[in-house]
Amino acid sequence: MKSIAVLTSGGDAPGMNAAVRAVTRSALDHGMTVHGVRQGWQGMVDGSFRQLSARDVGGIIQVGGTFLGSARCAEFREESGRSKALRHLNQRGIDGLVVIGGNGSQTGSFKFSEMGVPVVGIASTIDNDLLGSDITIGVDTAINVTLEAIDHLRTTGSSHNRAFLVETMGRDCGYIAIMAGLAGGAEVISIPEAEVSAADIAARLHAAYERGKTHAIVVIAEGVKESARKILSYFEAEARKTGFELRTTVLGHVVRGAPPTAFDRILGTRLGYGAVQALADGDTGVLVGWQKNVVTRVPLRDVVGQTKPVDTALLDLARVLAK
Ligand code: F6P
Repeated sequence: MKSIAVLTSGGDAPGMNAAVRAVTRSALDHGMTVHGVRQGWQGMVDGSFRQLSARDVGGIIQVGGTFLGSARCAEFREESGRSKALRHLNQRGIDGLVVIGGNGSQTGSFKFSEMGVPVVGIASTIDNDLLGSDITIGVDTAINVTLEAIDHLRTTGSSHNRAFLVETMGRDCGYIAIMAGLAGGAEVISIPEAEVSAADIAARLHAAYERGKTHAIVVIAEGVKESARKILSYFEAEARKTGFELRTTVLGHVVRGAPPTAFDRILGTRLGYGAVQALADGDTGVLVGWQKNVVTRVPLRDVVGQTKPVDTALLDLARVLAK
């Protein structure tokens, strides 16, 4: 393999830059030419490429987001868009592609690999819902940002005898909410996989108040049906029954934009290096991920279109420890 391209696609994730840096420098080490694609699959369709040197990827390992840019590209979902993208690759003599992204992005990788392009995916999404990797690039940072917010809210909650409802990201997956809730000692965690109703949240907060707690934290994942707004309006009607006043904080994209933690930088670095190894070995059509403490390769066809379940037993653990 002589010339490869690398792109970041879908929602950006802290640690993507570390992965691009690792892909670029590992490929240069193999004597390959490296092209960065701007704005994910959109750049492939539009032919927006830029050759990368070792210096071009300097000073980015500590920066959140992705310096290549990212996008959600409707055009690439159509066959005509993918054919355009293929023409751009062929015109430049690019014979390998690394795609750093989550579920939607890796569905694109799989479709492209079925057209004969040697593609290797790297598991990267803050949602951690991708099958084929125990953990994905970006989720550790997202958990830590959520946790920092919880810690701050607990401090002010204690001063005012308040309960705080913190909504974090994760699309339809409750992983960030469970992990940040456990680490932050939350009284209640509500996730799409195991929703807690507003009435149950109120009952659990009331019980916490009766046990003498001076604050309470409720973490909810963005994908729940009983949204922060709905829960708040329930509380406004029933406030006296819980003992606490309730305030809400919706974290939104704040969760996604932080500088990557050491874990995400190292994960991005190891998966980036592993992806180039896979290309060099001719082992393509695979997702490079992290399972049981090693870099792994799993066929894309076995992971795309599915989601990894969260361990809902952890919710019992959180409930027991919230005494
Ligand atoms: O997939 C990552 C993610 O941040 C989800 O947690 C969230 O639901 C979604 O992307 C938000 O997408 P956008 O940035 O397009 O609003």
